[in-house]
Amino acid sequence: MRTLLRRSGQILGVLAFLLVFAFVAVSWSAKNQLGRNYKVTVAKVAVPSDAEAIAQGRHLAATRGCYDCHGEDLGGLIVIDDPAMGRVAGPNLTRGPGGLAARFGDDDYVRAIRHGLAPDGHPLFLMPSTDYAPFSDEDLGALIAYLKSVPPVNRARGPVQLGPIARLLMFVGTIKPSAELIDHELLRPAKITAGLTVEYGRYVANACTGCHGPNLSGGRIASGPSDWPRAANLTPDATSRLAKWTEADFLNLLRTGKRPDGTAVSPVMPRAFGELYEVEQKSLWLFLQSLPAAPTGTR
Ligand code: HEC
Ligand code: HEC
Repeated sequence: MRTLLRRSGQILGVLAFLLVFAFVAVSWSAKNQLGRNYKVTVAKVAVPSDAEAIAQGRHLAATRGCYDCHGEDLGGLIVIDDPAMGRVAGPNLTRGPGGLAARFGDDDYVRAIRHGLAPDGHPLFLMPSTDYAPFSDEDLGALIAYLKSVPPVNRARGPVQLGPIARLLMFVGTIKPSAELIDHELLRPAKITAGLTVEYGRYVANACTGCHGPNLSGGRIASGPSDWPRAANLTPDATSRLAKWTEADFLNLLRTGKRPDGTAVSPVMPRAFGELYEVEQKSLWLFLQSLPAAPTGTR
């Protein structure tokens, strides 16, 4: 009996040691990934100040998700607050106290939005720069012009604090910072011409790949909280609902959040796409129709 007790005591001791070791390794790995320093060449992007450019920048901010994580006033918003994933806030982007605009130069915006990096070169967590990296110089310039024009908001948000599950997901590589996934050498177009073309639809669809996957076949959204539903398959595959939809059904979903059968899509699917210009929505449909069919979740 004694030896048995001692044995189990030893086993428990070993298990406890392994647990502590795993915890330290996982924490170290997450810290190490976010502590990494990326050296990228940040191309100069012209930042205009005319009303038309600022309006285009506002349109991009409203329809590409900036408000969802940085707040409608861009004064910052808590995006994730749970013990497993941690506490993650989109920072205050305005000139107000606690905001970063006062210390951000134009290059710093380009580094954050296009490359997913802080001014000191460390990768930003959760900020989906993979979706924004393909912005043309013209669109990125307009977006920065708008960010610099918004009224100051006085609100401070603490730094990102990762929970154990977020650390584990980074350790096993399920979550990667955008900076790790972006092709930093890619030459971005100076200008993209809006029009009812597959090409323009492909450009707009950069707003969809973060959740629906690089090939838009849907499936689990790794960076989201565990209660998020799987993203739908947007390719014309037999396993995809969209295969049976018309353009009108698709436009109606974007604008009202309702499927043809009357059911509502989850609020995780951003309603802001309803505000995309008609030419953006229709070219998206053209692009989705042109995709090769891919079974659901084969991202
Ligand atoms: C899914 C949520 C999310 C969306 C959408 C999002 N951001 Fe962020 N953003 C964040 C988080 C979180 C951080 C802070 C990351 C960190 O400190 O590691 C951040 C950081 C930033 C930074 C600051 C970088 C720094 O050095 O502190 C800028 C600038 C920024 N975002 C701009 C934008 C713009 C512009 C958009 C829309 C085109 C946008 N973000 C969309 C979550 C988001
Ligand atoms: C923040 C994550 C997110 C982004 C970004 C996103 N979606 Fe979704 N989308 C979802 C989720 C999750 C669902 C499934 C919701 C459900 O099951 O109710 C969905 C469902 C859909 C549906 C309904 C399909 C069906 O079978 O019912 C369409 C259409 C759609 N998305 C199109 C788009 C397009 C086009 C874009 C880019 C312009 C986009 N989504 C960007 C998360 C997202």
